[in-house]
Amino acid sequence: MTERDTGTGYEAFRYHEITKHSPKSVRSGTHRIDWMDQPEPFKNYPDLSPIPLPERAPDTKFPIFRAVSGQLGEPRELNLAEIARLVVLSAGVKSSKSQPGGKPVHLRYYACAGALYPIEVYLACSGIEGLDDGVYHYSPEQDALRMVRPGDPRPYLVRGCGGRPSLGQAPVTVLLTGIPWRTNWKYQARGYRHLYWDSGMIVANLLALSASGGHSCEVVLGFADDELDVLIGIDGRNEMSICMVPIGFTESGRDPVAPASAPAEPVEHAVGKLSYRQREYDEVLEAHLQTSLRSPAEAGIWQQDPYPNQAPRPPEISFSGVERVIRKRGSKRQFVLDDISKEELEGIVASSTYDLACDWGQDLTQVAVVANAVEGVEPGAYSMVWGLQQIAFGELREKARFLCLEQDLGGDGAATFFLLTDLEDAFAALGSRSYRAAQLNAGIVGGRIYLCSYACGIGATGLTFYDDEVRAFFQTQAEPMLAVAIGR
Ligand SMILES: Cc1cc2nc3c(=O)[nH]c(=O)nc-3n(C[C@H](O)[C@H](O)[C@H](O)COP(=O)(O)O)c2cc1C
Repeated sequence: MTERDTGTGYEAFRYHEITKHSPKSVRSGTHRIDWMDQPEPFKNYPDLSPIPLPERAPDTKFPIFRAVSGQLGEPRELNLAEIARLVVLSAGVKSSKSQPGGKPVHLRYYACAGALYPIEVYLACSGIEGLDDGVYHYSPEQDALRMVRPGDPRPYLVRGCGGRPSLGQAPVTVLLTGIPWRTNWKYQARGYRHLYWDSGMIVANLLALSASGGHSCEVVLGFADDELDVLIGIDGRNEMSICMVPIGFTESGRDPVAPASAPAEPVEHAVGKLSYRQREYDEVLEAHLQTSLRSPAEAGIWQQDPYPNQAPRPPEISFSGVERVIRKRGSKRQFVLDDISKEELEGIVASSTYDLACDWGQDLTQVAVVANAVEGVEPGAYSMVWGLQQIAFGELREKARFLCLEQDLGGDGAATFFLLTDLEDAFAALGSRSYRAAQLNAGIVGGRIYLCSYACGIGATGLTFYDDEVRAFFQTQAEPMLAVAIGR
């Protein structure tokens, strides 16, 4: 790894360029998946005792369209049962199935590229009845917590984030980390992008569930990387801090704690082996380093105030409850070629892009769509930045299929969304850290598209894509971050 540059975004952009898919790169790829050495899907701390989570608090049944667009439900006590509802339905195991030639797959309540589940979940807790203050690892395999660090974590969180008040007040802050090898094993260096996409899927669930329980929450990406890694007890290379979601800060009634005067002392615990032939990708380490924030002061400067949402609150086009939708969600493996309605298309996008509470201050995701079968919308390609603006005309199923790495799901959906970010603008406004924000923002919007679609009885799937072909097709300088197809 080399020294970090001054944060112009150039290095992150280099990573983005060299991990683009194109018909040529896909056809000339020589990577062979080593099925005998598939990384372990669960992080295991053999020396730490599990603390089983209690039964989950009852479903709120709060309408998902309200929750996704940030309205709060009836306030609930943030006790362990409520924490179990939030965490298990965000990131827990939904079902397990065997896989020919590989390890069993433990499907989760969130979508994940390739079902490789590179994201780990930790909880920084203080003042929760029945739980000592500390940082805990969440095991989705056992629905149990293990304490990785004792004591009130808030002074270190506030310090690492350059003083952000929400972290000093929240009784629970969810910390997501990524284990790059779990995804690099199959997707090589491009897998670094997946850490943010997959985290976005978890965050979409978590924000909706938190809102449904009446808890304030926000997504925080401005932290001093080294300090958060040390707090959690990870090395920042084989496992990297991704983002934090403080929950329940507004209603906690607590004054923010003062920042710690020094970083946390290191903690070390034995962990189970991930795989036998684990390797690091220099491009990934380089991109991570170049998008790191080096000090609490740098983190504080990077953070933005929330961006006031000017748009009218989106229409509620379904009243399905949050928990029901999350349980029902899955990735469709086939679409019939039936229509969805214009109201559904517009309603899903309006809610999925509405009012993201985050510390990068602005929604970085622009939506473009290939509409194949949307009643009331002429088939074609559209930008959805200001309503539906037609860019290309006619039946474009074959084109959408091609853009989505020649996968049938990309062409068979009623609509295929491309979530784009103008990286040059983002770098100019927010420096190289914005690369992480752009990927995570798209992941969250993608996760919300899943939820809103399922609420309407419409299926969805995330998809990967040919980067420059998508840009050329939509005649934009924005870069595609993620694709999502929806349909019956
Ligand atoms: C960011 C992202 C990208 C994905 N890309 C593809 C893809 O290119 N092709 C595909 O068939 N499925 C894709 N999927 C769907 C996953 O394979 C699916 O989420 C995973 O197998 C878990 O299944 P589930 O979503 O039904 O729980 C993607 C999902 C996500 C979240």
